[in-house]
Amino acid sequence: MKLIFLGPPGAGKGTLAARAVDIVKVPHISTGNIFREAIAARSPLGLKVKEILDAGKLVDDETTVGLVRERLAQGDAGGGYILDGFPRTIAQAEALAGFAPPDRVVNFDIPDTAVLERLGGRRTCRKCGANFHILFGKPKQEGICDHCGGELYIREDDREGAVKKRLEVYREQTAPLIGYYRERDLLTGVDARPAADQVVENFKKSMGL
Ligand code: AP5
Repeated sequence: MKLIFLGPPGAGKGTLAARAVDIVKVPHISTGNIFREAIAARSPLGLKVKEILDAGKLVDDETTVGLVRERLAQGDAGGGYILDGFPRTIAQAEALAGFAPPDRVVNFDIPDTAVLERLGGRRTCRKCGANFHILFGKPKQEGICDHCGGELYIREDDREGAVKKRLEVYREQTAPLIGYYRERDLLTGVDARPAADQVVENFKKSMGL
């Protein structure tokens, strides 16, 4: 199954994707995680994109599409994918349609107030990228990742100025994808407001799983 998770920053795409992989049995591919790993490794890609991510802007389409195309060519993506954070522009969607068209696009319905609350309390693992929240998804031990023991930190783009920019960029460049995929009869809405366990149930129901 080839799935896209579409929604504003902080909607819970990564959190649901981490759970949905056990349901749909395809890999979770997050372009944001790929960029953050490259930044942590100080690779040429990381050096190129660090300032862009910190400012809450989008990496250029050519770089991002090239990266996704390469990732989808790996063996584990042979049976499909959950793409989280890609596509984010019409140009990216058009490119994806050319090499790995999606079967469904899951659109996360959530108001800005909830998004701000989620991003404001997010803590991310420096080592494995897992997400926690100071109120809604606390780690067992404060500041330490439950999964790998890595250090939890506040993403640079979760600071107030960058969040504002990311929401602006989402409205201008990514929200038009809702109409784009609706016209192609690929869109499925998921109520992303409740607690994470309920969002998993909402996802299964909306997908008929
Ligand atoms: P990316 O990492 O993709 O950021 P994003 O889309 O802004 O999404 P987030 O990771 O912020 O949020 P999420 O929806 O995954 O929410 P999460 O599950 O963590 O991209 C980062 C940057 O990379 C971009 O700004 C851009 O620069 C670049 N980039 C990436 N892709 C690109 C592309 N295609 N083109 C160009 N540039 C690209 O949840 C958030 C918080 O809420 C967590 O603390 C979590 O614990 C909590 N939470 C989750 N679900 C619930 C729930 N149901 N109830 C309560 N709390 C919850």
